[in-house]
Amino acid sequence: MTDLSVDLGFLRLKNPVLTASGTFGYGVEFTPFVDLNKLGGFVVKGLYFHPRLGNPPPRLVETASGLINAIGLQGIGVKRFSEEILPRLKNYETALIVNVCGEDDEEYAAVVEYLDKQDGIAAYELNISCPNTKRDGRCPALSPETTYAVVDLVKKTSVRPIITKLSPNVTDIVEIALAAQEGGSDGIALANTYLAMAVDVEKRSPKLANVFGGLSGPAIKPLTLRMVFQVAQKVQIPIIGIGGIVSGNDALEYMIAGASAIEVGTANFVDPETTTKIIQDLEIHCRKAGIQSIEQIIGTLKV
Ligand SMILES: Cc1cc2nc3c(=O)[nH]c(=O)nc-3n(C[C@H](O)[C@H](O)[C@H](O)COP(=O)(O)O)c2cc1C
Repeated sequence: MTDLSVDLGFLRLKNPVLTASGTFGYGVEFTPFVDLNKLGGFVVKGLYFHPRLGNPPPRLVETASGLINAIGLQGIGVKRFSEEILPRLKNYETALIVNVCGEDDEEYAAVVEYLDKQDGIAAYELNISCPNTKRDGRCPALSPETTYAVVDLVKKTSVRPIITKLSPNVTDIVEIALAAQEGGSDGIALANTYLAMAVDVEKRSPKLANVFGGLSGPAIKPLTLRMVFQVAQKVQIPIIGIGGIVSGNDALEYMIAGASAIEVGTANFVDPETTTKIIQDLEIHCRKAGIQSIEQIIGTLKV
């Protein structure tokens, strides 16, 4: 029997496969398709303090092996989440991670402070990498200083572990990851989507009402994989790899490059059972390769 469990230090997961924020609703929507108990964990849709409608449609465009979204962080806010969703999730034996958003650093802290009083949450994933904020389209993850500031503030507030979700839209991802670590982050989620756009040639207009959106899906896997490898060389905290994962092989590539766990995003829209299939693939791979614990493969890339 292969042991698929992984230890993030602050959290032990029954396997390294989680779902990515914004692609798995609040978990409950996927229960007809996926046994949540089989997952290592799941990350719910990003939450601001108050409910938000997000951007006007069209908000999604398909591209070659990818998807551009400009949802704009539509969400139900912390109060409704705590009252309506959390009670429905409390009996599942898997790690529930809440993706936390904020218009400014204080809102991130307020969301965490509110959620700290609720049961059933394993950790927070700080979404400091979405451009739809009041900061003129800039998000904290674009500079080491703003990354450090928000992580430091939230870490001082939170009673739970913090995983900081970084943006790939930077020149030097390592300096941002180090800033998050210095701010007290317990882990790094790498990464969010790539700033992108698509044009309707007939109308000569952008295909997205928001003009820009974030590119996800298989198209981005090699790009984010490179960043995971670079960051893994320099930080001491665990990394969760996210970007274009559709198969067990993709998950293994990320883990060999240095990720302790992975999240599956866009693939959930193509096949909602992708995560459970990946878990099976990992089991088969480890059995065939004689690997007793999947942790043995983390960061084993031979260069
Ligand atoms: C429709 C959609 C909504 C998303 N919403 C969020 C969100 O609320 N918070 C967040 O941190 N990331 C969000 N993301 C980014 C994903 O969590 C993930 O980082 C990204 O899609 C890359 O993974 P993938 O290629 O497996 O999809 C969203 C992505 C998509 C496609």
